[in-house]
Amino acid sequence: MQAVTYERFGGVSVLAVRELPTPQPGRGEVQMRITMASLNPVDFKLRSGMLRLVGRPKRPAITGKDFAGVVAALGSGVRNYAVGQRVFGSVDPLGGRGACARFVALATDLVAPIPEGVSDEIAACLPVAAGTALQVLADIAGLRSGQSVLITGASGAVGSAAVRIACSIGAQVTGVCGTANIDYVRELGAGRVIDYRTENWPALDQQFDVIFDAAAATSFAIARPRLKPAGIYINTMPRPELYRDALLARLGSRQRCVPFLLKTDSELLRRLARLAADGVIVPHIDEIVDLAGVAAAQQRMEDGRVHGKVCVRVD
Ligand SMILES: NC(=O)c1ccc[n+]([C@@H]2O[C@H](COP(=O)([O-])OP(=O)(O)OC[C@H]3O[C@@H](n4cnc5c(N)ncnc54)[C@H](OP(=O)(O)O)[C@@H]3O)[C@@H](O)[C@H]2O)c1
Repeated sequence: MQAVTYERFGGVSVLAVRELPTPQPGRGEVQMRITMASLNPVDFKLRSGMLRLVGRPKRPAITGKDFAGVVAALGSGVRNYAVGQRVFGSVDPLGGRGACARFVALATDLVAPIPEGVSDEIAACLPVAAGTALQVLADIAGLRSGQSVLITGASGAVGSAAVRIACSIGAQVTGVCGTANIDYVRELGAGRVIDYRTENWPALDQQFDVIFDAAAATSFAIARPRLKPAGIYINTMPRPELYRDALLARLGSRQRCVPFLLKTDSELLRRLARLAADGVIVPHIDEIVDLAGVAAAQQRMEDGRVHGKVCVRVD
């Protein structure tokens, strides 16, 4: 099968479309023919070696985590899926599997059905970005109606899903983004939008129940004065100092600092699928490329020139 692969860490020039053996489903796995993948910042962070301390993908590595497709074959013991069924999911790319490929074989707990009315493009955009937003706001912060939340990176893939989810919960949403995206974030439903290029949100005269630093644009120390006494700060870039801050926050206050790492499972995917089917999550698709266009698209993403998601048409 064709796949976008790399053999060593580096810039986008290490990516190449190559022929690899088609993965076969093991016990408890389904083999899927991928129709659409989507790119995330973690793809270029893994490829560049920026995350080498977290894990090194088995070589040849296949880039990409998120995909939508069709069940092509069932491994032994799989009863809850049928050949031909539309599904989406998220690959653990450290094991030599990846989404920018014609086929993938995965355990069923990393897959969920695509509901009627949800396109493959939308489904492929959901797992990492919207999954992060949902897990952060609903599961970790326990955001409730009437609470206040500030979201950095509100125009990005994670942040835009977070704005939509927070609005659907009934929270008062403040979004932080760049000048060009102010109208977009307002249209998503944020009651207040702050342009990080011209305004300094840590200087606001407001305190929040939740600060979701989706852009990992600041630190707990800077955000803390803007947190309510029992407020929570969640950052998507789990650097060592965040774990230190998480400990310190617990010692002297009811505030919390949480370094976030996404954990995907079938249940999370099913919740995302429902939110997409209900029109709560509406990813903005910047561009759709083919497998040969993945390297250029990753470069654009790395340069901060992508608004929302890049999809990869595989089939
Ligand atoms: N830890 C995890 O498990 C996990 C999971 C998912 C994502 N992430 C990480 O989360 C981050 C966001 O991912 P994404 O897919 O949403 O990326 P993205 O689509 O590129 O969005 C990044 C956003 O950050 C905004 N931004 C840049 N500088 C900012 C600043 N100083 N203040 C506020 N906003 C700023 C940009 O806004 P403008 O374009 O409007 O300027 C952009 O929309 C990435 O670093 C990703 O690796 C981590």
